[in-house]
Amino acid sequence: MAPLAPPARGLPYVFPLCLVWFAGRVSDDDPTTGRRMLTGSAYADDRHIRSRMAIYAYAETAADPRWRTSVIPWDGTQIVADVGCGNGFDLRQIVPQGRCRHAIGLDLSAGMLRSLEDLRQSGGLSLVQADAQRLPLSDESVDVAMAMHMLYHVPDIPAAIRELRRITKRGGTVLASTNSSVHLAEIHDLLDAAVSSQLDRPVQALPGPNSFTTQSGAAILSQEFSSVTLRTLDLSLSIPTAQPVITYVASIREPILAWIGEPLAFDAVLNDIAVKVEQVIQAQGSFRTFTHMGVFICR
Ligand SMILES: C[S@@+](CC[C@H](N)C(=O)[O-])C[C@H]1O[C@@H](n2cnc3c(N)ncnc32)[C@H](O)[C@@H]1O
Repeated sequence: MAPLAPPARGLPYVFPLCLVWFAGRVSDDDPTTGRRMLTGSAYADDRHIRSRMAIYAYAETAADPRWRTSVIPWDGTQIVADVGCGNGFDLRQIVPQGRCRHAIGLDLSAGMLRSLEDLRQSGGLSLVQADAQRLPLSDESVDVAMAMHMLYHVPDIPAAIRELRRITKRGGTVLASTNSSVHLAEIHDLLDAAVSSQLDRPVQALPGPNSFTTQSGAAILSQEFSSVTLRTLDLSLSIPTAQPVITYVASIREPILAWIGEPLAFDAVLNDIAVKVEQVIQAQGSFRTFTHMGVFICR
């Protein structure tokens, strides 16, 4: 296949001040790290993340939801900060039954924090709206700092890692999870093909591979930590109808449109993918795709 070029993005030649204003807008709407994209669309609430996570229900062997936090011997003594906590996938494993002493869930998006209100009311949890690049926590104030599937959304990843290191006590642990560059590649290949077909040229539907993957993360984290190890989890998903794949792709509609930056018949893209997935299901009984994730354990 020919090398994939990102979509063209022309900058108008205008008065320099306008250029600064325009550049600010572009970065605010960046499909992966833009603040407006994250808090106003992708993570305005937890609807899209729930849609994406629903696909894991088709794992041929179910994963332990504690797979990425079980390295910590939770015994009710730990203070933990979950940075970019989202709707609390990990906090819901750690906070109940007093497995930690206290947890602080931090997220850029107020909408995501709202989805944790039920857990906060049950006790042992504080919620704070904050940016990972400047955490409102004191030096060495937590035993465990977590940044789960979120560092690839941060514009300055080294700054966020320095913050994780700063807030963690000596002898504490930082956990940072992410995906591999080939996570769900079978779905992303179909997506690229469907968008390319609509635009009549080869296009990558999303920027990728992301800036913090299981492949690239160790090198970045090693700048702050003397010990960085990776625990991986690979799952094979066997999907019996096209709908879960369509639901997954529909949940990333806004970042795709922002990245493509030109009119795109998104319903036609979804339809194209549904047809291809149904063809595979007809031929093979199910559509199979593979997740590849990992958590870095940093000390
Ligand atoms: C993919 S979700 C992961 C949520 C959760 N940690 C999990 O693994 O299920 C990414 C989360 O990071 C948050 N986020 C993105 N950029 C952030 C930043 N700079 N500071 C804090 N949170 C951020 C988003 O609002 C979103 O809730």
